[in-house]
Amino acid sequence: MTGSGDSAPDSILRIEDLDVTYRRRGRKGDVNAVCGVSLDVRRGQTVGLVGESGSGKSSIGAAILGLTPVAGGTITFDGVDITHATRAERRLLARRMQVIFQDPYGSMNPARTVGDTVTEALRHNLGLGKAEIADRLQRALRDVNLPSTAAERYPTQFSGGQRQRIAIARALVMEPEFIVCDEPTSALDLSVQAQVLNLLAELKRSRGLSYLFISHDLPVVRYLSDEIVVLRGGQVVERGPAAQIAENPQADYTKALLMAAPVPHPAEQRRRREERRRFLDDGEALAG
Ligand SMILES: Nc1ncnc2c1ncn2[C@@H]1O[C@H](COP(=O)(O)OP(=O)(O)OP(=O)(O)O)[C@@H](O)[C@H]1O
Ligand SMILES: [Mg+2]
Repeated sequence: MTGSGDSAPDSILRIEDLDVTYRRRGRKGDVNAVCGVSLDVRRGQTVGLVGESGSGKSSIGAAILGLTPVAGGTITFDGVDITHATRAERRLLARRMQVIFQDPYGSMNPARTVGDTVTEALRHNLGLGKAEIADRLQRALRDVNLPSTAAERYPTQFSGGQRQRIAIARALVMEPEFIVCDEPTSALDLSVQAQVLNLLAELKRSRGLSYLFISHDLPVVRYLSDEIVVLRGGQVVERGPAAQIAENPQADYTKALLMAAPVPHPAEQRRRREERRRFLDDGEALAG
């Protein structure tokens, strides 16, 4: 890791000209999942990343977290180039940068208690004493509105929304500054989704967190974000302040994303679906 020194002082995460490329096994040609994307997350702020399925959102998150190799460009965290950070450097970064995924259960061992699940990285990474670990666990459970007795129970004994709170607690115990949230509420019922979004907003305030918030759902992204970046086919089609992108989008693609957002009224939903289909058909006709 080398200091670049040229990041704005209030920038916690900066991506410049990022490319992520996947090899297609047994087939010719690579998949250019992300092509030349730049974005800047300022301290205490949330940048929302929105786009349809396959637009490259998770690939950007994975590149930041070191879960997928970077084919081009740079990723800077708090002024330090982490684009090709080593495993040892990643371990240190885990104290400052965490992630919350859509399906927390997929990453939880059902045979482990919630307490063990939440403190696993703490026990292996930070070398803290037992009392400090217990303290941090209780604080994290309290911050996500779970009772302290949750620590002795197992993930299977909790609902989807509660499991997402456990996943948030697991990120919080590390006391990070920055969290990648990759569709953290997409698997939840609408009412539970709102509770988890409120919780994330509250934590942002109380802990001064910064988020990269990934979702295909523009209204959800708008709720939490200061700025929104719209992705299509691995490229940025539009960006700007959250209110502007959600209320007065310029790109037809962003307008279509808004039309695709879930609305409670079935007839309205049908109308939007048809509009969206027309837009996509037109787009394909143009592209073809
Ligand atoms: N491990 C991989 N190997 C090969 N191709 C991949 C891999 N991961 C993603 N892709 C491809 O890269 C492109 C971007 O995928 P990515 O998962 O980043 O999109 P996304 O916007 O997160 O989509 P979703 O909303 O469905 O989660 C897609 O074409 C996808 O098929
Ligand atoms: Mg994804």
